[in-house]
Amino acid sequence: MPKIVGLSGSLRRGSFNSMLLRAAAAAVPAGTTIEIATIRGIPLYDADLEAASGPPEAVTRLKEQIVGADGLLLVTPEYNNSIPGVLKNAVDWLSRPGAGIGPIFSRRPVGIMGATPGAGGTLLSQAAWLSVLRTLGTQPWFGGRVTVSHAGQVFDSEGKLQDAAVRAQVEKYVAGFAQFVERFKIGAS
Ligand code: FNR
Repeated sequence: MPKIVGLSGSLRRGSFNSMLLRAAAAAVPAGTTIEIATIRGIPLYDADLEAASGPPEAVTRLKEQIVGADGLLLVTPEYNNSIPGVLKNAVDWLSRPGAGIGPIFSRRPVGIMGATPGAGGTLLSQAAWLSVLRTLGTQPWFGGRVTVSHAGQVFDSEGKLQDAAVRAQVEKYVAGFAQFVERFKIGAS
């Protein structure tokens, strides 16, 4: 049964993307789990820091979580029509050292979703992630899309997903992605 690690690309307490990740984790089909991991505590990438003391603890912990799972779900904000720096920074750390990238990213099934209070649903950010995911050798899932616009109306004041159409979209996405992960996880024939 597939185990997925989910990462929100926002550190904000009231993050819509973290709300969306929690909603996705709650919408998994029976037998699938989404473990919510975090990019909190990961410093800005600095090759001198890496050379002096290796990967920071928060990076090592996250690597272990990803390697221990079958798939990765990125829930990404959109900043200036592209990838948010904090999430890209975390992925950059995860990709170091280059020789050790295999177990973390190679052929790893990856899903992307995102939420914004704006009208564009993070579509441009999600598209921008694709060149990164290709470079890392992952297997992005293209079978569905979750692009949450006007997020302030989609989640209630407690952060719960209150929009029935978006909930159905999330459920469908998670079910499809879980099937993809089960079929194409690393080591599956
Ligand atoms: C934004 N925001 C934004 N939204 C969007 O839909 N398209 C964009 O290009 C941008 N650009 C942008 C740049 C910067 C620097 C910030 C800080 C914000 C708004 C963004 O979607 C909003 O802050 C979300 O609430 C961020 O996600 P979380 O923190 O709610 O998960």
